[in-house]
Amino acid sequence: MISPAMCHVFTIFFLYPSYIVNVTHSVKCTSLCICRPSTIQLLCVLIIGIICMYTQQLFCDCHFMYSKCSKFCKWFFTCCPGVSEAVRRRSTANASYSTMLDDVQPELRSLFERSRSCLSIGAGYGQRDIEFLKRCVPGIETVTAVEPAPDCAAELVIKLQHLLPMVRYSVHQDKVQHWRGMEEPNDIVLMFHFHYYLTRSELCHLMERIFKEMLRLYGYVVMLVATPDAKRPQKVINPLLDDCPEVAALELVLTDAGFHKCLQSEYHVTMDMTPPFEDEFVAFLQADCGLETSIEDARAILEREYSTNNILKDTRYLLVYRKLPALQY
Ligand SMILES: C[S@@+](CC[C@H](N)C(=O)[O-])C[C@H]1O[C@@H](n2cnc3c(N)ncnc32)[C@H](O)[C@@H]1O
Repeated sequence: MISPAMCHVFTIFFLYPSYIVNVTHSVKCTSLCICRPSTIQLLCVLIIGIICMYTQQLFCDCHFMYSKCSKFCKWFFTCCPGVSEAVRRRSTANASYSTMLDDVQPELRSLFERSRSCLSIGAGYGQRDIEFLKRCVPGIETVTAVEPAPDCAAELVIKLQHLLPMVRYSVHQDKVQHWRGMEEPNDIVLMFHFHYYLTRSELCHLMERIFKEMLRLYGYVVMLVATPDAKRPQKVINPLLDDCPEVAALELVLTDAGFHKCLQSEYHVTMDMTPPFEDEFVAFLQADCGLETSIEDARAILEREYSTNNILKDTRYLLVYRKLPALQY
């Protein structure tokens, strides 16, 4: 299992020095000697490179190993661009999210044309947040992320390096309530599928803090939210997620903190919750709901709740709010 990054390391540290040694050495030798070792080694590098790329592609489609594998193996999977095959098969969440972005991308690109810095709160593995930044914030230069889960934070770093290589980033492994914050306010604050993790008073407090300290004047708060009444498996696994405000109540929190609504877009998601549940699907839900349980425990909860054919449907919203100057009366 060798990713392209490892392949480069392998090439640079093992093959390239010996190649250089041979070329240097060959200066003293006959032309036949110059040609033979270096050509063979170049060919080796080429063949190993092709094998590495092929192997990585192969493993992209092999996510059943994900939940059982070592940290290194998980790291390897995060280098793969796709999501788990089982997740893709069962849920339209990522595809519907991308289609929704297709529709609003031109509008968002012009809205965020001048935005350069972004704070992502509860960034998780960064999948949706990074797609959003790549597609809708053309001038993004710095990304700061706050994510308490160590695995997510580690994988987020790798994803940022791979998917936004020109961007400066810092990942803070912390809960946003405990995070000391940063000196410079941001142009954009992302909160994608995150507000479920806060109590109502924590959410109100965070919104005020974002307004006062974390966002510059005329900056934007962008949220992705799921309808709270949907019987989402994440909520089934982690009942704490049940206590989050409905969209209307959430909007009230935002306007109370001083934000003005700019844009709303909705999309519909279906998820096939018919058992049996594959390991990598349970692992995905577990990570998404922010609860440290074993795969077996999470699977047992899911099997209790979804015993027969179950196709869940829910509506999700992209909300964009803006910080405008306070009205003078
Ligand atoms: C559902 S995931 C969303 C990940 C990502 N934003 C996305 O939409 O793909 C929510 C993330 O919020 C993180 N989280 C939970 N409580 C948090 C807190 N108090 N502060 C910051 N992040 C938190 C969880 O660890 C989890 O990775």
